[in-house]
Amino acid sequence: MRIEGGRALNGVIPISGAKNAALKLMCAGLLSAATLRLSNMPNSLRDIDSQTELLEYLGATIARENDLMAINAGSVDKIDAPYDLVRKMRTSILVLGPLLARFGEAKVSLPGGCAIGTRPVDLHIDGLRAMGAEITLEHGYIHALAKDGLQGAKIIFPKVSVGATENLMMAATLAKGETVLANAAREPEISDLGECLIKMGAKIEGLGTATIRIEGVDRLHGTAHEVVPDRIETGTYMIAVALTGGNVRLKNARADHLAALIARLQKAGVDIAEDGADILISRDPAQPLRGTDIMTEPYPGFPTDLQAQFMTMLTLCEGAGLVSETIFENRFMHVPELARMGADITVHGNSAIVRGVKKLTGAEVMATDLRASVALVLAGLVADGETVINRIYHLERGYEDLVGKLSACGAVIQRI
Ligand code: EPZ
Repeated sequence: MRIEGGRALNGVIPISGAKNAALKLMCAGLLSAATLRLSNMPNSLRDIDSQTELLEYLGATIARENDLMAINAGSVDKIDAPYDLVRKMRTSILVLGPLLARFGEAKVSLPGGCAIGTRPVDLHIDGLRAMGAEITLEHGYIHALAKDGLQGAKIIFPKVSVGATENLMMAATLAKGETVLANAAREPEISDLGECLIKMGAKIEGLGTATIRIEGVDRLHGTAHEVVPDRIETGTYMIAVALTGGNVRLKNARADHLAALIARLQKAGVDIAEDGADILISRDPAQPLRGTDIMTEPYPGFPTDLQAQFMTMLTLCEGAGLVSETIFENRFMHVPELARMGADITVHGNSAIVRGVKKLTGAEVMATDLRASVALVLAGLVADGETVINRIYHLERGYEDLVGKLSACGAVIQRI
């Protein structure tokens, strides 16, 4: 991807449905034999394609048209997620709970580590065991059995996990009796999934709080559900405008899901307003941004998925900002690439001190994971001269029409 930096962003950017909600909602489709109709699905994302491939492998029928997707898992005849599909996308682990709950058996390849950390799945496994599943780990696979069905259980997570909360919430919808998930994650994507499950007939209380109660039912039915707007995509474009200056309307977004980011951007000197379902963001390029600190935390704290982008912004702030990453152990891989563009960043353990510099200069850089990649795109938008980003397949996993959306606001960016 080639970017000619130095253009302010002005215009309108439509926000897509959240990738990290859509991927789990697709798994929810496995819980019922009836059709689940999803709208506001993000289009042309590689992760959605991988999840589609996995569900089709299992025997589900998937129809897609624009932002609509209909999933029918009435003819599912396999219960295994093979390594070749799981290694492409770790979120495949989210079929474990639904398959086990509905069919009494599931076999899912262990995902392994990834660029941002070791990312174990022990919380998913321990939770399902607490619900009565017999689980063995063999030949790189998790093999889970619950021939007489899962039993409700009280599960206290020793650590907040988005994926484990989702997997166990889905499994519990078809378990016998009540499941309580304590110290559950509270991300908006989990509430979105829970609301869809409720429409499918599940009994769930406490969504958006740290204690979720699920009373199991015999079966779930079909429904229609609109995917929540992508708060990370929204936040990424907000930071882009903060960096380049300009004035952008983000259409169909949820400002209430971005309170932690908005507070930090305002502190740095960015103007943000809401207009119905839109967010208006502007910055006068003549006014300098001020350095400010962030620490990533589970929702409603500052999202780890916006840490790299925010760090790019700090590189050009007046003063300094301290970035502490508490969720993943290896999520500073954008630092050496930003340094190649002139940033002044010192990393110590899980913290990075970013001292503002006058300008970044375009360079050839390499993307390592989805959010690190987009942080380099943001740097390219504001750097002097040309930036070329290699390995952009990461970006295509999670940002719908990034080039089109930025170009429409005046950026000079192309996929080459
Ligand atoms: C989700 O990953 C998101 N992915 C991530 O977004 C996001 O960064 C993360 O939540 C945190 O917000 C999707 O929704 C598809 P976790 P998930 O379980 O569910 C540890 C992106 O760029 N842990 O909340 O895998 C884990 O290692 C991606 O879109 C265990 O120790 O995250 C991490 O340190 C990247 N054992 C912490 O918990 C477990 O069994 C939080 O992970 C599970 C997790």
